[in-house]
Amino acid sequence: MAVTQRALLEAAAARAIAYLAGLAGRPVAPPRGALERLDALDRALPDTPVDGAAILGELDELGSPATVATAGGRYFGFVVGGSLPAALAANWLAGAWDQNAGIIALSPAAAKLENVALRWLLDVLALPPECGAGFVTGATMANFTGLAAARHAVLRRAGWDVEARGLFGAPSITVVMGDEVHVSLLKALGHLGLGRERVVRVPTDEQGCMRADRLPSLDARTILCLQAGNVNTGAFDPAPELCARAREQGAWIHVDGAFGLWAAAAPARASLVRGFDQADSWAVDAHKWLNVPYDSGLAFCRDAGAFRSAISTGAAAYLVRSSGREPDDYAPEMSRRARGVEIWAALASLGRSGLADLIERTCGFAARFATGLRTAGYEVLNEVVLNQVLVSFGDDERTGRVIATLQQDGTCWCGGTTWHDRAAMRISVSSWATTADDVERSLDAMLRAAHSA
Ligand SMILES: Cc1ncc(COP(=O)(O)O)c(C=O)c1O
Repeated sequence: MAVTQRALLEAAAARAIAYLAGLAGRPVAPPRGALERLDALDRALPDTPVDGAAILGELDELGSPATVATAGGRYFGFVVGGSLPAALAANWLAGAWDQNAGIIALSPAAAKLENVALRWLLDVLALPPECGAGFVTGATMANFTGLAAARHAVLRRAGWDVEARGLFGAPSITVVMGDEVHVSLLKALGHLGLGRERVVRVPTDEQGCMRADRLPSLDARTILCLQAGNVNTGAFDPAPELCARAREQGAWIHVDGAFGLWAAAAPARASLVRGFDQADSWAVDAHKWLNVPYDSGLAFCRDAGAFRSAISTGAAAYLVRSSGREPDDYAPEMSRRARGVEIWAALASLGRSGLADLIERTCGFAARFATGLRTAGYEVLNEVVLNQVLVSFGDDERTGRVIATLQQDGTCWCGGTTWHDRAAMRISVSSWATTADDVERSLDAMLRAAHSA
């Protein structure tokens, strides 16, 4: 290796390590001054090459302070996990490998790691072992990919080859989903030509779960979309009842389980996912609760043949095919990074018990937040069954002020939402890096913010 390349990579590792070590002592949101200094990166494209060490120095000195400390233990916004040490290390090594994971001929190592990771994933997520699966960028693309398989299958039943003929003149399809569906599913429907608004919405209960008593009648040309883990409350649709009805009536069942399906990996939470294994396709994120680096999600489909027919690239003379599982048969992209490496490393490093502990521990922290806030007199709006807490600090204006004060304080970061016409603060605990001390410090900061607002 050239001396300069070695020195640069060593410097990058040293800076990255220093960055992570510094997270505990810095505000979670970047200070305004750091954001203003980002402008120094915005200059004319250099006419001639610039030394890599100078580039790295600038990125670290200007970029690092302007990051949001999502890799630390006190970020509770959206549903964001940190990167497990083994997953981050695997990501660095895989970056050096620079593998194109699209086909086996380009990366036998990536393909092998994907195959092993898939077997492990189906096991810990309690999904049918015969599933086909693709490594995609996140749950949005996983929903897209699963729904593409659904679209293929229901139209094939109607004698229509949608990949060949498109949707022009196709038999109509009905998509049924709960009122509390995640927006990414609607986005996926838009991309697939199924229409964001051309869906039948089913009313939901106070936790955001689809009401089984309001399910319309379904048929073989229906795609029923269920949710495992509501982004606000963490609640699960009543899958046993809904899946039984959908199966009886021949509908395709797709599950958006971006973070909620990970409950299957923790014995004390596994009852939450009961019945979801009866579905036909599932979308799951790895970059959320499995705590691998972005971007990483998975689409699973019970009928691996339907999945391949919907997604595969098709033949081209220059593309070498093997008799093994060709990764590009299961993902919308052809060339892509080797996401399976980090997933393999995360699961290998945690083992079954480490994964269960990650899920259970973070759920326990969510419960601690809920108890601490309730005890202080604030209203927790959801049943805290998983890792999500919704809290109101009084009227909407006051809740908004508390969120703003908390974000400014910098001890931790939580965002806002509207839940059943009321402003609420969302707390999502999804990172291996969160400790009991982080939770207590953050709870103190929330109560301080609430007292001052
Ligand atoms: C239930 C649910 N589905 C889908 C998504 C979209 O996931 P991604 O941002 O990984 O595409 C999210 C993100 O929070 C989610 O909570």
